[in-house]
Amino acid sequence: MWRVKSLDAILATAEKKSLHRSLGPIQLTLLGIGAIIGTGIFVLTAAAAQKAGPGMMISFVIAGAVCAVAALCYSELASMAPVSGSAYTYTYAVMGELLAWCVGWALILEYAVAASAVSVGWSGYVLGLIEKGLGFDFPDMLSAGPAWSMNGLIPTPDFSVGLINVPAIIVALAVTGLLIIGTTESARVNAILVAIKVVALTIFIALTLPVVETANLSPFAPNGMFGAYSGMGIVGAAASIFFAYVGFDAVSTAAEETKNPQRNVPIGLIGSLAFCTVFYLLVALGAAGAIGAQPVLAADGSAVQPGSAAFMAACALTENADRLVCSNEALAHVLRVIGHPQVGNALGTAALLTLPSVILMMIFGQTRIFFVMARDGLLPEGLTKMHSKWKTPYIVTLFTGIAVAIAGALFPVGQLADISNSGTLFAFFMVSIAVLMLRVKDPNRHRPFKTPAVWVIAPLSALGCLALFWNLPHDAKMVLPIWGAIGLVIYFIYGFRKSHVGRGIVDVPELSPDAPPGPVPPMPGAPAPGSDEERR
Ligand code: ALA
Repeated sequence: MWRVKSLDAILATAEKKSLHRSLGPIQLTLLGIGAIIGTGIFVLTAAAAQKAGPGMMISFVIAGAVCAVAALCYSELASMAPVSGSAYTYTYAVMGELLAWCVGWALILEYAVAASAVSVGWSGYVLGLIEKGLGFDFPDMLSAGPAWSMNGLIPTPDFSVGLINVPAIIVALAVTGLLIIGTTESARVNAILVAIKVVALTIFIALTLPVVETANLSPFAPNGMFGAYSGMGIVGAAASIFFAYVGFDAVSTAAEETKNPQRNVPIGLIGSLAFCTVFYLLVALGAAGAIGAQPVLAADGSAVQPGSAAFMAACALTENADRLVCSNEALAHVLRVIGHPQVGNALGTAALLTLPSVILMMIFGQTRIFFVMARDGLLPEGLTKMHSKWKTPYIVTLFTGIAVAIAGALFPVGQLADISNSGTLFAFFMVSIAVLMLRVKDPNRHRPFKTPAVWVIAPLSALGCLALFWNLPHDAKMVLPIWGAIGLVIYFIYGFRKSHVGRGIVDVPELSPDAPPGPVPPMPGAPAPGSDEERR
């Protein structure tokens, strides 16, 4: 189970596959921004405010800084092994199959659960438009899932706040349907969607910054740096808002489709991250400064986690109706409160149009990870069966989409984002360790991009991931070991015996009789092979 898939075998696989290296630095940065900007900034700004108050601005900087050092580590590995599978593939090459399996298994949390979170975020904006824009009253029971609390190790639902999130189910299944019939986003569509998001956020900043009042920013950190319990305070908010940056690693998954990846992948990773960090800070300042960002308190005056039953009860009080922290469509809400309801509706429409592409990227990313794991024999090849007409891996896509819809139907956005973060932080942690191990194990291998000051940056990245993980809410932290234990059982029952490396099959997967049929389909946002866009 410690067997590694050698980097040379991984590279040979990539070389023999017909590569469509078509992405340049700008397209790659746009791809990153397309995957990054989503529910995190549009919706979770409210949850961050509940945890940190106006101090959430520091939370955005902390989360951005951890992502920046992790991105530098990703860049070294992605430039050395510009192949699909991202953190899973790097771990396979450096730390062996068992840990690679664990990372791949954790990436399911990152991608699939993130898709659920974005679906619920989308639902918040759609319901805002239906109820506040059009004046229709949507039944509460169908607009949100229940609130959850842990009774020992048993999750217990409270159906008084909601039963099932119907819009989240609809968008998750609609995107799944699009992926099954073979819709992937062209580079041009991605660029348009990025433009819509950036224009919407720019207008938000332009309207809110002039009305910022310093009084709204005080007290700046009502829950302090760490809060009264795990998941609260400025660092707790950073652990949650980390979700707003997730997706930059999509750039490294596209390394196989990148021209001069050694130069362009680091530019795409760091460029998209830097761009989003600046925007996020300005949006957080505008939101908190324009209408205030103080947390609501439980009846006994104590701090409450967003999404909890006590939080919902506090937000149900009329005096809290206009609070930023209680809104499911934070940015549109701010614009409505400062007297721009139509612009608020327009921003809601921008979210409505663009968030599905983030869901698409996440579900697609998930199917891609499944693909690569099945290509290595760790998952059943049947999962990657192609549809005869649409030429898409319809079984794995449908399976993923249904799971995404169920989670979106039943859980609040903040809890889903926190669970997704726990998997992502684990994957980033492993990448930070892998980059150091490879420097020791294989110091002479050509490194087209070298992480600067790697013995400082990589440990900082690993520690940053650990610190953020530690500051997630307790329930989200518990999901990773439970999920990991389930994964280990599956590995020892299945992957351990079926692994291609274990069985000595390290040839090009497409030529192997054991390989899943068909090549890995192109990344959404990348030009299709042979298309006009690609030729340009
Ligand atoms: N970063 C992405 C979002 O915020 C996942 O929606």
